[in-house]
Amino acid sequence: MTAPVSEELPVEELLESGQRKMEWARQHMPIMESLREDFERDEPFAGERIGMAMHVEAKTAILTETLAAGGAEVAITGCNPLSTHDDVSVALDAVDGVTCYAKRGVDDEEYYEAIEAVIEHEPTITVDDGGDLVFAIHEEYPELIESIVGGCEETTTGVHRLRAMEADGALEYPMFAVNDTPMKRLFDNIHGTGESSLASIAMTTNLAWAGKTVVVAGFGYCGKGVARKAAGQNAHVIVTEVDSRRALEAHMEGFDVMPMAEAAAEGEVFITTTGNRDIIVEEHYEAMQDGVVLANAGHFDIEIDIDALDTLAERTYEARDGMQAYEMSDGRRINVLAAGRLVNLAAPVSLGHPVEVMDQSFGVQAVCARELVENADEYDAGVHVVPDELDREVAETKLAAEGIETDTLSEQQREYMESWQHGT
Ligand code: NAI
Repeated sequence: MTAPVSEELPVEELLESGQRKMEWARQHMPIMESLREDFERDEPFAGERIGMAMHVEAKTAILTETLAAGGAEVAITGCNPLSTHDDVSVALDAVDGVTCYAKRGVDDEEYYEAIEAVIEHEPTITVDDGGDLVFAIHEEYPELIESIVGGCEETTTGVHRLRAMEADGALEYPMFAVNDTPMKRLFDNIHGTGESSLASIAMTTNLAWAGKTVVVAGFGYCGKGVARKAAGQNAHVIVTEVDSRRALEAHMEGFDVMPMAEAAAEGEVFITTTGNRDIIVEEHYEAMQDGVVLANAGHFDIEIDIDALDTLAERTYEARDGMQAYEMSDGRRINVLAAGRLVNLAAPVSLGHPVEVMDQSFGVQAVCARELVENADEYDAGVHVVPDELDREVAETKLAAEGIETDTLSEQQREYMESWQHGT
């Protein structure tokens, strides 16, 4: 696999490069392969139009073609201005039944124009990563809601947004919280974000983890993955938290826990994973050492206050591809990766999560989309927990593909687990 390819290449070269990336991903996505066989046979999405706003790279392309193989007409764009691979976008657009509007490096206006282009296909199902598509439909195109069966949301921040909409009585169609399933967050958020964020930072900086002091903001699913894997690479890890139990969990796992105001002076690499805003701000920049590296792995680019850094800095320059240096008047340099956008997808060298991990997350997306068309009547407007049997179906498909067998409960064991009469 290669890094995002420039859209300036001739279209045939983009197509060939994108198809090569998709082929590699396809070879490592057995859940998608199995679902694709089912979908080709049963055509569950015949007559449906699926609108998607996701990171357009090779794994997402395989989800998209799998949904199209089930009979859907699919329109897709990116969910982040920097995460699109233009070659994959071209290759995806060439797939039967798929129109792809994603382009890397778009400005805000172009980003939302592409979301509108997807909406113009009048989707009956939406698949979102961060909630921008659902939000735009509710704000700008409420007349489409009546014909929407439902949707699926991929990430923590998107689910937060949906729950906030639901609490305000503003969410008008059913949405599955794909993020909240075990098959998603125990693998994608923990291992995917952990591995790919560290890999992107290491490749962008060409610096070692061993011996570094790494500050991880947030010890949620993503933060745990980042902290544990950084420790696994022999970094000294400091965690910052606002939740007492998660702070305690980090402490009991052997990490130093302290407020960001203290950690700022100690860290050499900072990685934000909170899904919240203003995690690294002016007071922290003032305390930081020369040469620190800042990266964000949370969904939006609001965790590191880059405007404040820009104001404080005497000069700024591109230190390396994908990394901007901000030089303070006292000579200290603070380096920010990928403009504070999620580093594992938006840095020039980044590839997103490992393929196997996304096979699982997208397996849940695909079975949820199927559930929406098969059992639409069972879901009212609002955020829905993904039925456990669907999540298990994805896990079982993966285990079978890996050739891993498990024990099964005997009848006596099942009875025992369901009874309350047995005591000492
Ligand atoms: P989570 O809710 O499990 O964890 C977030 C943690 O941050 C919580 O423990 C919370 O207490 C803590 N936090 C909140 N405000 C804080 C503050 N001011 N200082 C320190 N800690 C604070 O969420 P999860 O699943 O870990 O997701 C985090 C973010 O990462 C979300 O924006 C999510 O959408 C995004 N995400 C990014 C991925 C990627 O590929 N980079 C993949 C999956 C999720």
